[in-house]
Amino acid sequence: MVNPFVALSFRLSCMLDNKRDKKFCGNELGVFVPSPFTGSHGATGSQSAPYQGLDIVLKDLDLTPDDSFIDIGCGKGRVLAYLLGKGYSCRLTGVEINPRVAEVARSWSSGYGNVEIVEGDAFGLDFNDYTVLFMYRPMDRDAFILFVNLLEMTLTHEIRLYYYADGESGFYLNERPGWNLKIREDIYRVRGRYIHTVPQRYSVWTYTPAG
Ligand SMILES: C[S@@+](CC[C@H](N)C(=O)[O-])C[C@H]1O[C@@H](n2cnc3c(N)ncnc32)[C@H](O)[C@@H]1O
Repeated sequence: MVNPFVALSFRLSCMLDNKRDKKFCGNELGVFVPSPFTGSHGATGSQSAPYQGLDIVLKDLDLTPDDSFIDIGCGKGRVLAYLLGKGYSCRLTGVEINPRVAEVARSWSSGYGNVEIVEGDAFGLDFNDYTVLFMYRPMDRDAFILFVNLLEMTLTHEIRLYYYADGESGFYLNERPGWNLKIREDIYRVRGRYIHTVPQRYSVWTYTPAG
C-alpha cells in the first residue's frame, strides 16, 4: 500500500509532467498503457519517465552532433521530448514494440528532422548505429539478460548506457567484463516531491567490447 502522502505528491508530479508534455508536444504523454507484449517479450507497460528523474539520470549527458542516442522502448517519446527541449540536434531514435504507443511518439515528433521512431522489437536493431543507449525498465529481468547478451555479441564500439529503474535487473551488469559502472544512485524524492510511488534506482555504464 502506497503512503497517501506519497501518492498525492506523485500525482502532483505526474500532473506537472503532463503539463510540460502538452506545452512541448501538444499532447500529454503520461497515460499508462499496459503492454500486449508482456507474455511474449517480457515487455513492461508504457509508463513515461518523470522529467525531474531525467534531470538526475541524464545529468552528465553531453551529446555532440556526432552522437546517436536511442531510447530502447521509447513509449510515447517523453525522453526524446526532454532531449529536444535541451536543444540537442544529434540523431535521436526511439524504438517501441507497441504500435499504439509508437504512433503517439511518431505523431508529435514528426516535425523534428533529427528524430526517428522505429516501431518494432529492439532485439532486431543493430546497436552499432548508436553511441548512447537509454532504458527506463522496458523489459523484465529475463528479457534484459538476453538483451545484454545480444549487445555483447554484436557491439563493435564503446557505448554508454543509462539504465533508469535498474533495481530488478541491473545486477546482471555488475562485474561483467567490458561493463564499467560510472554511477548508481537511488531516486525517489526530488526537491520535496515524490516522483515515484516506491524508491527506484538508476545506473550509468560504459561498455567496451573486447579486442
Ligand atoms: C516503462 S516504458 C518507458 C517509456 C519511455 N522510455 C520513457 O522513459 O518515457 C517501457 C516501454 O518499452 C517498450 N518495450 C518493451 N520491450 C520492448 C522491446 N523488446 N522492443 C521495443 N520496445 C519495447 C514497452 O512497450 C514500453 O512502452
